[in-house]
Amino acid sequence: MRALAGAVALAPSVIRGSTQILGVIGAPVAHSASPVMHNAALSHLGLDYVYVPCHVLPERISQLGDAMRTLGIRGLNVTVPHKQAVMDVVDDLSEAARQIGAVNTIIHDAGHLLGDNTDAYGIAASLREDGGLESLPPKVVLLGAGGAARAILHAVLLDKGVEQVTVLNRTLDRAQDLVAELGAGRATAGELGDPEPLQAAGLLINCSSVGLAPKPEVSPLGDGAGLHDGLVVVDIVYKPLRTRLLQQAEAAGARTVDGLGMLVHQAARAFELWTGQRAPVNVMRQALLA
Ligand code: ATR
Repeated sequence: MRALAGAVALAPSVIRGSTQILGVIGAPVAHSASPVMHNAALSHLGLDYVYVPCHVLPERISQLGDAMRTLGIRGLNVTVPHKQAVMDVVDDLSEAARQIGAVNTIIHDAGHLLGDNTDAYGIAASLREDGGLESLPPKVVLLGAGGAARAILHAVLLDKGVEQVTVLNRTLDRAQDLVAELGAGRATAGELGDPEPLQAAGLLINCSSVGLAPKPEVSPLGDGAGLHDGLVVVDIVYKPLRTRLLQQAEAAGARTVDGLGMLVHQAARAFELWTGQRAPVNVMRQALLA
């Protein structure tokens, strides 16, 4: 079924004997936005795949490789809490997955399982396409030091024009550990609440979960001190889309980028790895918004 012009098909195409299986594993998984995005893209291109959510318990994860090979599952996305555990299940890791220390996408080729991570690609594509940043500014500030921050720090440091990244986190130890492991001599750690590093920065990315529903009234920067009109401000939180931080950034005259872009672009990259087809990014974005 092809989507009619202007409309986005949310249902999968007809499932036939030849249909290949894609999906997402997580615990929980019911909240995942991935099935809607991928099935819309598959339908739009008329590809013979279906994308399904699978609730997989942590104690079963060691059997995942056998399950994929036995059932011939072509590819999976991996979400919380399996992103690290899956590293031991796959046969090989991409450079990105190895460096980030997490897998969010598995590609199955004739019994061989490759673990990849498309989150870094997702933020880089969003910075370029949604933020208009062909190259990144020399000074960057990241808020948060969890799993998302790892992937984003990795992505930011791939840009050789970036001279210094400051990672600010509520728990200083975690920021220090992250910087020591992935900082490549170009990152420093600090505590959330210090507005000083923002002054010289051209890019600020919130990689923490502060501002996420059901607490959308809070900002990781408190009252927004340090924001200025020379900043591009990205918030990877996408529920709500217009977070308190983005409102503060707008009020300070900064350019803002919401979290939908990273979500869509990391999915688009996985889609391309599985199907070999260019992902219809706008269809995926519209499906999410719908
Ligand atoms: P994810 O995989 O989404 O990055 P995570 O690894 O649990 O999730 O990381 C969540 C991040 O949000 C962490 O940086 C966390 O700070 P701590 O390391 O101090 O826990 C940050 N975070 C979560 N709730 C926060 C809050 N109320 N105030 C400040 N930072 C918070």
